[in-house]
Amino acid sequence: MVCLGNICRSPLAEGIMKDKTKQHNLNWQVESVGTGNYNIGDPAHPLSQKVAKLHGVDISRHRARQYKKEDMLDFDKIYVMDRDNYNDVKKMSGDLWNAGKIDLLMNEVYPSENLEVPDPWYSKEPAYHTVYKMMDEACESIIKKYAATERNTLLPHQ
Ligand code: 4NP
Repeated sequence: MVCLGNICRSPLAEGIMKDKTKQHNLNWQVESVGTGNYNIGDPAHPLSQKVAKLHGVDISRHRARQYKKEDMLDFDKIYVMDRDNYNDVKKMSGDLWNAGKIDLLMNEVYPSENLEVPDPWYSKEPAYHTVYKMMDEACESIIKKYAATERNTLLPHQ
């Protein structure tokens, strides 16, 4: 899960996705990063933490890290929150760029519409609730889409 600062949107997306993988008993590795370097080592924004907690999701231990191009190899899917994130990841990935692995998160709910998860950084609490709802819907779609595949691949060959 990728955003700019890795303190508002993507830590929330990581928390939501980890919570859902746990509920569905899926052994997925979920992480979040920022394309920028201003917030490295910082905890999630207090409002992201608050909104997560209201939904039973604990992101208090999150610390921001920056995207590195090897993430393109280490992960099967990379979800970005907006077009700037997409373009930044592309630039930062260099020779490891793999367009097939990356998409805007909201395209999991509204395919090919390229909707963005808006940056709540300059906004007040309601914006964090809006962002939570959008990302929760997208993460639920991802679970539905890939969980079946994972269960199938885990079935013993007949
Ligand atoms: P995020 O929000 O990308 O959702 O984590 C931001 C956090 C920090 C800044 C910008 C956006 N910043 O400019 O420091």
